[in-house]
Amino acid sequence: TPVAAVIPAAGRGVRLGPGAPKALRALNGTPMLIHAVRALAASRHVSLVIVVAPPDGTAEVKSLLDAHALPERTDFTVVPGGDSRQESVKLGLDALPPEYGVVLVHDAARPLVPVDTVDAVIEAVRDGAPAVVPALPLADTVKEVEPAPEAGAPEPVVATPERARLRAVQTPQGFDRETLIRAHESVTDNVTDDASMVEQLGLTVVAVPGHEEAFKVTRPLDLVLAEAVLARRRL
Ligand code: C5P
Repeated sequence: TPVAAVIPAAGRGVRLGPGAPKALRALNGTPMLIHAVRALAASRHVSLVIVVAPPDGTAEVKSLLDAHALPERTDFTVVPGGDSRQESVKLGLDALPPEYGVVLVHDAARPLVPVDTVDAVIEAVRDGAPAVVPALPLADTVKEVEPAPEAGAPEPVVATPERARLRAVQTPQGFDRETLIRAHESVTDNVTDDASMVEQLGLTVVAVPGHEEAFKVTRPLDLVLAEAVLARRRL
């Protein structure tokens, strides 16, 4: 069954500081979004990439895709995004043709995910999992706090979950098409990833090994790290 990828790229990237929408900022001279599109299209299994663009930036994203060399065997579609990541993914799914039985959802903000990670997610979905996430063990101990009303004020610690049982979850997350569409139709709570919507349907989500280079470019230091990874790859 053919595989499509939806790439939400409509975020402003406020935490990265002032400037263009995050996905359009350059890493070593090439927009982050183009790196992300190439990372997904690098998989032989992915035959369609749906980019969800900033609503006022669809024309710009279309011309960026035209201007950069991308694999010929892959089709590209650009649709305008929404106010939340969840809404943007749903708008991407609305543009998904019926023949795609497997759907990946991948943050434009994770431009350096290796193709082996993409393929591992696809394989786990094809093996029968309704939802698959790439995940890594945590280096830091994680604490749950009672969030303070103002930023910077002390926050009481409520609990310390056992670190060995925790995972940091990345993208691409992979889904059986019907499962993901049903999740987006029935779950209205605000969520930070797509797999949690599938969990809310009562289905089992499985984690496969993620990759350090699939980190999310969120803060200014992440840009430094991403450019260093790209420089090392050129060696
Ligand atoms: O906000 P965060 O950094 O977690 O965003 C993850 C991804 O979701 C980014 O690629 C961002 O462009 C995308 N996004 C979106 N539409 C929004 C907000 C975020 O497509 N309204």
